[in-house]
Amino acid sequence: MEKIVVFDSGFGGLTVLKELRKVLPNEQYIYYGDSAHAPYGEKTHDELLELDSAICRKFSGEEDVKCFVIACNTTTSEVWDELTERFSEHDFVGIEPALRWAVNENPGKNILVLATTATINGKRLKSRYEELKDRANITLLAAPGIVPFVESCGTKDQEFKDYLDELLSPYRSDVDCIVLGCTHFPFVKNEIREAIGRDVRFYDAAVTVAAEVKALLEDKGAVNADDIKGSVDYQNSDPTKVELEAQLLNIYSQI
Ligand code: DGL
Repeated sequence: MEKIVVFDSGFGGLTVLKELRKVLPNEQYIYYGDSAHAPYGEKTHDELLELDSAICRKFSGEEDVKCFVIACNTTTSEVWDELTERFSEHDFVGIEPALRWAVNENPGKNILVLATTATINGKRLKSRYEELKDRANITLLAAPGIVPFVESCGTKDQEFKDYLDELLSPYRSDVDCIVLGCTHFPFVKNEIREAIGRDVRFYDAAVTVAAEVKALLEDKGAVNADDIKGSVDYQNSDPTKVELEAQLLNIYSQI
């Protein structure tokens, strides 16, 4: 049976998988985390292209792929064109920070975009910023320290709290909403809220991606029927992380 392959540098894409399973519950998913090579946000374009191509090559060879979901803002930002060209026989859906959504709902307000260094410096987000900058006060901020803490399950450590406090203290007084521009970041919404010191609205593009995948499958007439039981096959380039991924997704679904 055809499978939807969802991949990321590690645990982050689970936040996308969670939304996908809400709207497409009868699908067979493969979740692939490349934790052995995380974080992606500090890698060069060529390194990312090599890693992401290896993932797509592996699954195009081994599986009947319904579509690829790039559950990684960094990959989408850096290598979308080359990847979709190299594997043009497949459908792809990617993710980018939900900046347009945030601006539409918060015109004239202070919007903070948090993402990896590669996404913040990438052309894709820069051009989105140019398109929207007159409609709100947008700040793009690289937060390279978050992913390693999520990947090592260290987000309850004091060291992580200190990192976020230092990173976010300049924005405490005036931020109106935050765009979570990396799929790892929804795991630490509570910690970000604590560092900001008050309740702020978060924008996370996972919901949009899930809707896009659903529309794509509907267009192709490829949505699984209700009598098919949905499933997830967790795979990771670091085999010690596989069990953790399934657990994390369960914990996260309950929040
Ligand atoms: N979760 C990915 C993203 O959305 C990559 C994070 C990383 O590995 O640096 O950008």
